[in-house]
Amino acid sequence: MLSMTTLDLVTSDAQVVGSARIDERGKSPSRAVLARYSGTTPDIFVDAVANTLVGHRLITHDAEVASALVESGATVLRASRMMVLSSFELVQDGLIVWKCPIGPIQHTPNAYAAVYIRAYPPEHPDHDPSEVTVEAAANTITTYLSGEEVGPLNRLASGEALDPSGVVIGVIIVSELAGNDEYEGGPWVTELFIDPAWHGLGVGTALIHFAVIQLALQNRLTLGLAVTVGSPAGRLYERLGFEERSKSWALIID
Ligand SMILES: CC(C)(COP(=O)(O)OP(=O)(O)OC[C@H]1O[C@@H](n2cnc3c(N)ncnc32)[C@H](O)[C@@H]1OP(=O)(O)O)[C@@H](O)C(=O)NCCC(=O)NCCS
Repeated sequence: MLSMTTLDLVTSDAQVVGSARIDERGKSPSRAVLARYSGTTPDIFVDAVANTLVGHRLITHDAEVASALVESGATVLRASRMMVLSSFELVQDGLIVWKCPIGPIQHTPNAYAAVYIRAYPPEHPDHDPSEVTVEAAANTITTYLSGEEVGPLNRLASGEALDPSGVVIGVIIVSELAGNDEYEGGPWVTELFIDPAWHGLGVGTALIHFAVIQLALQNRLTLGLAVTVGSPAGRLYERLGFEERSKSWALIID
């Protein structure tokens, strides 16, 4: 169920110093996207956040706010880079050779779940301990495919890679992200994951090529994504020409 509310952020002496858009869809804790009003110092803003939003997953694109939150005792859950590939061309110099079959997504979330779990082992910076069973991982993937989380699925640009016997070894899920203050919106890589047995063999690159070709055929010439700071996937995106637009932080005050 879609549930979004906007709260004023108020200091202990009743000044309104910003707002928070609370998104109660999906996972707990609910997300609170922070906006600081101009003229408010990070410290005063953080006092107002601490008055109102203990226990929420706080999202900010503001480096000063992130650092003031950390100084006040908040824990960083994730730092991520928003990256965009823009103005790509359909015709390139050489042929693109894919080493395994790549095509539109056709399998069920359950078929993707086992690959997803193997792609995000405990040592991965995006590992989520609540997603280690096939059922939990399939639920998460279902929310991406249904459009409930992130935005409507771009089915044509979403693809899967198969091994020679037809078993799924990789998936790219592309959604249509609504515009916000940080990004104008458009096609967005919601997930990209490859079976570790196939890492480093060009499958991830091939799935991004697939998405980009499908998007170019729809006359859509940008593709955005967020990657966790420290994830090796960042190198892949840089090599493919994605450029960093902004950073964001997810934090929690316990
Ligand atoms: C990131 C990921 C999708 C890359 O897929 P891949 O098929 O291994 O990618 P390719 O073979 O096309 O390209 C390899 C690139 O990925 C990066 N990479 C990430 N993890 C890697 C691994 N375990 N082995 C080799 N390369 C890896 C390397 O930087 C490499 O870049 P390089 O060519 O400049 O050296 C895959 O490693 C994966 O599923 N990781 C776990 C899930 C994840 O982090 N998804 C991204 C979320 S934003």
